[in-house]
Amino acid sequence: MPGKYESMLNKLTLEEKASLCSGLDFWHTKPIKRLGIPPIMVADGPHGLRKQIEQSEQVSVTDCLPATCFPTGSCLASSWDTDLLSTVGSALGEECKAAQVSVLLGPAVNIKRSPLCGRNFEYYSEDPFLSSALATSYINGLQSNGVGACVKHFAANNQEFHRFTVDARITERALREIYLASFERAIRQAKPWTVMSAYNKVNGIYASEHPFLLNDMLRGEWGFSGLVMTDWGANHDRVAGIVVGEDLEMPGNEGLNDQKIVQAVQQGILEEKDLDHVVRRILRLVDRACENLDQDATYDQKAHHQLAKEVASQCMVLLKNQGEVLPLDPAKHVLVVGPFANSPRYQGGGSSHIIPTKVSDAFSSMQHLGSVSYKQGFSIESELCDTTLEQEVLEGVEQAETIVVFAGLPDEWESEAYDREHLRLPENQNELIRKLAAVHPNVVVVLSNGAPVELPWLRNVKGVLEAYLAGQAGGEAVADILYGIVNPSGKLAETFPRRVEDIPSYLEPQRRGDTVFYTEDVFVGYRYYTSRKMPVLFPFGFGLSYTRFSIEMLSCSHSACTERDVVTVQVRVKNCGDCEGREVVQIYITPPRGKVSNPCLQLRGFQKVSLKQGATEIITFVLDRNDFSYFDEELKQWVVEEGDFHIRIGNSSDNLSVSHKISMHQSSENIALFTLDSMVSQLLTHPKGKALLQPAFDLLPFDLTGESGKMMWEMVKAMPVRHLVTWSHGEFSESMAGELLEALNTRV
Ligand code: BGC
Repeated sequence: MPGKYESMLNKLTLEEKASLCSGLDFWHTKPIKRLGIPPIMVADGPHGLRKQIEQSEQVSVTDCLPATCFPTGSCLASSWDTDLLSTVGSALGEECKAAQVSVLLGPAVNIKRSPLCGRNFEYYSEDPFLSSALATSYINGLQSNGVGACVKHFAANNQEFHRFTVDARITERALREIYLASFERAIRQAKPWTVMSAYNKVNGIYASEHPFLLNDMLRGEWGFSGLVMTDWGANHDRVAGIVVGEDLEMPGNEGLNDQKIVQAVQQGILEEKDLDHVVRRILRLVDRACENLDQDATYDQKAHHQLAKEVASQCMVLLKNQGEVLPLDPAKHVLVVGPFANSPRYQGGGSSHIIPTKVSDAFSSMQHLGSVSYKQGFSIESELCDTTLEQEVLEGVEQAETIVVFAGLPDEWESEAYDREHLRLPENQNELIRKLAAVHPNVVVVLSNGAPVELPWLRNVKGVLEAYLAGQAGGEAVADILYGIVNPSGKLAETFPRRVEDIPSYLEPQRRGDTVFYTEDVFVGYRYYTSRKMPVLFPFGFGLSYTRFSIEMLSCSHSACTERDVVTVQVRVKNCGDCEGREVVQIYITPPRGKVSNPCLQLRGFQKVSLKQGATEIITFVLDRNDFSYFDEELKQWVVEEGDFHIRIGNSSDNLSVSHKISMHQSSENIALFTLDSMVSQLLTHPKGKALLQPAFDLLPFDLTGESGKMMWEMVKAMPVRHLVTWSHGEFSESMAGELLEALNTRV
């Protein structure tokens, strides 16, 4: 049943319809006063509500209502905890509801193609499965409150440099397997109310008017029925956008492009029915929003701060803990160093910047838990070493059992609108850490950054905690982890490379110009490093705990199967250490070497479990055709290759202690259509291929037997079918070749 406003579509004039296709201002849709159609409000996310104070005339990222600043995307993703993401989504929904905001502009799910992208702190992962699973939960949580999500930025907005104009050149396979996959599951499963199209071009066409992205994929294959809005200012050709279902142009610009829509209809360039589809979706969103508005809604600020703390403590990743330097002993003195300890860096710059309701710092939180003193040590205003500050720290070190240095990237190094140029920390921080490690055996570094950094002093320190940009209560969470009140359980959702030159896209730098070729193709992040057996600083999926876990194989339903089978794998995970903890069990597949090059590890599932000391749990993973297939560019379809797949399970991409081999055979359903250009070797993969080809082989003027026949046989296998006709001088005729193909292509 159409809603109240949707049913008004027929009452609208052409001009009114066109006017609805762009915003009223920065944050509202347009009303139609004559019919009582109200405006609705959208506001920024993704890790907090950024509602600009309505009276402000200018676009501002500071003039906003206070809201809870949750950990940013990269931090949240390190939880590998879908329930947690749903809780965060739900809390965000409550805050939106209390602020009368109908759509929150998040989650942001662009793939981390390079750790240098300035907005990586907002994004989840280099892996599409993880990213999409987390986004699904976030959206479900948010929308359970009657507030819409807006999944952004669709698609391939993987750098900030030239983001308004850059053309991302990507194969269809990499798009589908990596870049679109990060959106796909979330859109199919969680059905977000809205999607935001990106600024950039993809393969020569702006995302805001992209027939393949918006029509074929989003609305076609994935069945998305919600609203698509442009990123702010991303419209290029408004009429072309309407044709492919770009519903709403944001922000408003006094209806600059509305007139073009009217003219296009009047001149017959745009069919009114296409405009109607767009307007219907806008009115449907207005209906949805209005049905869910609640003038009396409130939320509990204190409870949300507490939640932000609990969330942050589930996300941080313990990267090193040599000699169990952590947790800290409350009875022993700790020297805390670095301005981030009392003036935390907890979020990134740009449209996601939240005015927090409260900020807690690590140093004051640590004061409640143990004996601590503070020295600044370095400045974040400059990269230069300050010898006076350094001296002050170095003089007092012997009184401390442990030194905890709070290092990280300065605010202006990570933001929307620009990328980083290197992976370094400021040199004065590196220098001080080196000097402290030279005079003290127990140095621990806590990092505040939204994306990977190089750690040149890693070998010299005992401990490293990656706190990421942990939101307004991150300081309390750090203290809890350092003192063992919370056992860390975060795992990296991205690889930390050893150096910037190792990044897969390094040879096609982001800062080159307006066309960026994604030459690394599907080899993004760990898919690249593991396939090249390249050492990294910290691998994807890695993170330590104060306890230890073991994972053992229990059963796998198949050792041989076809792509039609569903494979069930069970493992047992045990907490064999001394305290309660949480572990993330990860399942990857390694495909066989086949027609295309395949990344040697691909995440296909994960589960986070909470286990008391000595406790065990059985975990079940189910893999189906989707998990074994790749996108074949020639055949334009998903294909499962024949051969041995390895299933690998463990607690990090570099620690997959459990493995199981499955030989994959093709069922007749999976067999691709053969043509005269298909190779003999491809036909031989068909169960009947050998028998049906034999008559053709017999007519070839080659001896295919014995030692000398070996080379000829390899030649014949590499021939396209049409060569069989030529080499047999037509004795194996074109019509016989046609019959052969027909027999092979007939599906059982
Ligand atoms: C960003 C979006 C954001 C929008 C509104 C754009 O510059 O790319 O992520 O939602 O501004 O602030």
